[in-house]
Amino acid sequence: MHTMTHPSPPSLPSAKFGIVDLFAGPGGLDIAATIMKDEGVESIGVEWDDATRATRAAAGLLTTDVKDVAELGPCDPSVVEATVLTGGPPCQSFSVAGSRKGHQALDDVLRLATRLADHEDEASFDAAWKEVKSETDAMSDDRTGFVLQPLRWIMEAKLKRGRPYEVVVLEQVQTVMPVWQHFVKILRRTGYAAEAHMLHTEDFGVPQTRRRAVLIAQFDPENVHRKVRFPEATHQRYRKGAERLPPTHDHEDGALFRTSHGGDDVEPWVSMGDALQATRTSEFVMVSNYGSGGDPKNRGRRESGEPAPTITGKVRRNRLYHLRKDASGEIVIRSEDELDRLSAQEAGLLQSFPAAYPWRSTDVAQQIGNAIPPRLSLHILSMALLREPPQEKWYRLLKEWRPQEEPTLSSAPPVAVRRPTPPQTSAPVSSSASVRPRTGASAKSSAK
Ligand SMILES: C[S@@+](CC[C@H](N)C(=O)[O-])C[C@H]1O[C@@H](n2cnc3c(N)ncnc32)[C@H](O)[C@@H]1O
Repeated sequence: MHTMTHPSPPSLPSAKFGIVDLFAGPGGLDIAATIMKDEGVESIGVEWDDATRATRAAAGLLTTDVKDVAELGPCDPSVVEATVLTGGPPCQSFSVAGSRKGHQALDDVLRLATRLADHEDEASFDAAWKEVKSETDAMSDDRTGFVLQPLRWIMEAKLKRGRPYEVVVLEQVQTVMPVWQHFVKILRRTGYAAEAHMLHTEDFGVPQTRRRAVLIAQFDPENVHRKVRFPEATHQRYRKGAERLPPTHDHEDGALFRTSHGGDDVEPWVSMGDALQATRTSEFVMVSNYGSGGDPKNRGRRESGEPAPTITGKVRRNRLYHLRKDASGEIVIRSEDELDRLSAQEAGLLQSFPAAYPWRSTDVAQQIGNAIPPRLSLHILSMALLREPPQEKWYRLLKEWRPQEEPTLSSAPPVAVRRPTPPQTSAPVSSSASVRPRTGASAKSSAK
């Protein structure tokens, strides 16, 4: 049993933009919300994995006591103040082109989602949910049920709480796009202006190529067909073999900042080398564990001047070598040139987490791979909530962010509500020790 060490369960304070973040992970979205605090943004996450909860607690992020998204709803006191719903539900591959199973799963989700739409009152919604639930409970893959949870929350907020979420943000891997497109239609019928688009993380200054299917919806019953503004690229799109653009930075006191440009000017992509300059002093090449083009021998390679490939839970399988080229410019891989593999801190940096992010407990690589890159979250939240691009200073605040247990020199007011007691599973490794925790096992855990 969970021993309650705090007087009352963590709950979302009332705020202009109070976010309930479903399937919150280590906080890829919540950490961005923290950076946007001055705009009236607060967030609380729902997350069931104890290791991930330990990381969240160490980072000072609020997490509900109830762990399972399916066991909680919008009327619960811990989340009742929320005006914004966000979520990255775990999803299977809804591969339409590929497997029969993927196709079947997609058909099921679309059909069940439709069943949850267009209800005028609580009783009719409850009857529909009961049917949907008994069907998803019987499925072998419970992820089908998870992807429908945000819809349940959206409908219950409107019909039971009597206060619909003002903004909804959902994100997932690209194969989930057909589900988001279906949700867009349902949300429009529910009173939302809604759109879903594919975003490329390197377009937003994340030192990694990763594609995310993102849905943004804003409650606007009179205008459900209006355009929904999406984040606009600030950085160059990566393409294999493409030249990196020359920098458009100006230097001032040694700091980089972006000059304002009209038109479509973008910055060069941010490379692995840029992100890891504190720990990787010479050029390197990263050799992926995965083959590309269907050939296991043709392992993907990225040089330190390029963004990283998608960071997954298997990030530690990537090998790194000193960059060495032969006379014809071909990369030469030699075992004696192999370097240390990526640390958790480095993998976090490639996901645009702050260097001081307090990764905790077990399966750290999986936690990191699961997350939405915080820098992308800044773009998404800023557009979804404020309808404008992020403020320049937020990028610096994100980079320099440190956990709150350390004394802050800034004049920011103390934030008492943001510090739930770390759960008993956390291994309070000191911040300096957490700089290079080994993925997984060696991160001590006193989990019972
Ligand atoms: C894809 S990750 C989301 C990451 C998150 N959006 C972020 O940026 O850090 C999905 C998360 O959902 C959690 N999860 C899965 N099923 C859950 C459930 N029923 N209730 C609560 N959390 C759940 C997993 O442990 C995992 O951390």
